Amino acid sequence: MTTGTPKSRSPAAALLAVVLGSACAGAAAATPRDLLADYSARASGSADPARGRAFFTTAHGRDWACASCHGPTPVSDGRHAATGKAIRPLAPSADPARFTDRDKVEKWFRRNCADVVGRACTDAEKADVLAWLITLNR
Ligand code: HEC
Repeated sequence: MTTGTPKSRSPAAALLAVVLGSACAGAAAATPRDLLADYSARASGSADPARGRAFFTTAHGRDWACASCHGPTPVSDGRHAATGKAIRPLAPSADPARFTDRDKVEKWFRRNCADVVGRACTDAEKADVLAWLITLNR
């Protein structure tokens, strides 16, 4: 006797959607909320602005905190702790170019986390920091 269980459809349509989707996702352009969504998804947890603020404003066993260069509330210019050069505000409300270029964001997370934490920041840490920065109004 036959059970008549239908065969599942070929996943071709789903695959096509993924391919088309990633053609767009391959571009470096993004919004701060896109990046936050990506980091949060990879961290598989919800981002916490208060935790992000604490991470940003405290030292991690080394000389500098993120705030050493970017200031404790980065809606105004920061100042590089070593060179004294001005740094544009990190909060997207104060500088709309912030967190809109994935490659730039990753490059600076890599460099700054190495300086401040002595390792790469985790996706959860990036999500927390960005969640906090997005809440800041200039
Ligand atoms: C020694 C100084 C210094 C410290 C400490 C520092 N940064 Fe930065 N940061 C910079 C400079 C310089 C740039 C690049 C210049 C610019 O974009 O204005 C930058 C850029 C960035 C960017 C790029 C954002 C964008 O979209 O343009 C991110 C993200 C960032 N920093 C995060 C952090 C975090 C998180 C920490 C702490 C783990 C940190 N920074 C600590 C100096 C610093």
